[in-house]
Amino acid sequence: MEKKNINWSELGFGYMPTEKRYVSNYKNGAWDEGGLTDDATITMSECAGVLQYAQTVFEGLKAYTTEDGRTVMFRPDLNASRLADSARRLEIPAFPEDRFMQAVNDVVKANLAYVPPYGSGATLYIRPFIFGSSSVIGVKPAEEYQFRIFATPVGPYFKGGAKPITIKVSDFDRAAPHGTGHIKAGLNYAMSLHAIVTAHEEGYDENMYLDAGTRTYVEETGGANFLFVTKDGTVVTPKSDSILPSITRRSLMTVAEEVLGMKVEHRQVRFDEVKDFAECGLCGTAAVISPVGKIVDHGKEICFPSGMEKMGPVIQKLYDTLTGIQMGRIEGPKGWLYEVK
Ligand code: PLP
Ligand code: COI
Repeated sequence: MEKKNINWSELGFGYMPTEKRYVSNYKNGAWDEGGLTDDATITMSECAGVLQYAQTVFEGLKAYTTEDGRTVMFRPDLNASRLADSARRLEIPAFPEDRFMQAVNDVVKANLAYVPPYGSGATLYIRPFIFGSSSVIGVKPAEEYQFRIFATPVGPYFKGGAKPITIKVSDFDRAAPHGTGHIKAGLNYAMSLHAIVTAHEEGYDENMYLDAGTRTYVEETGGANFLFVTKDGTVVTPKSDSILPSITRRSLMTVAEEVLGMKVEHRQVRFDEVKDFAECGLCGTAAVISPVGKIVDHGKEICFPSGMEKMGPVIQKLYDTLTGIQMGRIEGPKGWLYEVK
């Protein structure tokens, strides 16, 4: 397969239309058979459920070229089931998980020329989503929906790649208790836009959100879960009903415990214990593992001993092992790599 002539190592995290995308429409209570299309444009009612009341959910996953030249995706079955969970919470009909698997496979296969080569530092980001496409003016679910998947080659989510970032403790909340923080709804990201623009204006890379109910516990950032390392090397990740159950975080906990033999804890993390950790990072599909060097809480700085130049040693080890599994250099747990065929 001849790859596109793209300067892979210069790519940022942006949208570049690729050749094919998948579309299936839901009407009269059923999903149609769906298929690939060249058309990157959507035409719908001005009163569509997604436009009026933000009735939309999405996923994010990546395809990689392995060291031995295979094209793989990392645990796409978990994206299929999380999309279905997200859909049910917003009264959107779930897209069947077996059909999701076939559709992501077909999108990657149809865009193989855009899957970045091994070692380029780039990946193919895949964005499945479902939205209410028929008109609604009273507040209620739409009757018709579209499920769509496009793919776009991307580089690092944070400029500077593996260089530690600085984040601030946000004055805004991202998700309410008993709300929608645990699903991947577009509305959660709309909620975070003013906060992220404000943080960027103030010179920060991201926001740390605390629990909206008590502002005592660490939740997550706008697009990634937190990962902490204690001074004695235990990996700690925050537990909360209002954060997204990150597939990267769940995978890292398994890697830490079962592959690297580390101690792991998935528990509530009080903000006032953050200053005692040795390392901090963000994890997610887009973020991979991005080290955090500094957290600023209304002028008070928490500077991690790992510093602002490079990842701390434990996070580096987790990063090397996870990306090693994703790129096929290291044998991971059975079933984690799905080969595109
Ligand atoms: N948290 C939020 C709010 C996200 O948007 C994402 C990205 O999907 C994550 C966490 C990380 O989840 P995952 O590792 O499944 O990509
Ligand atoms: C992902 O990691 O796939 C996400 O959806 C996060 C988003 C902020 C880009």
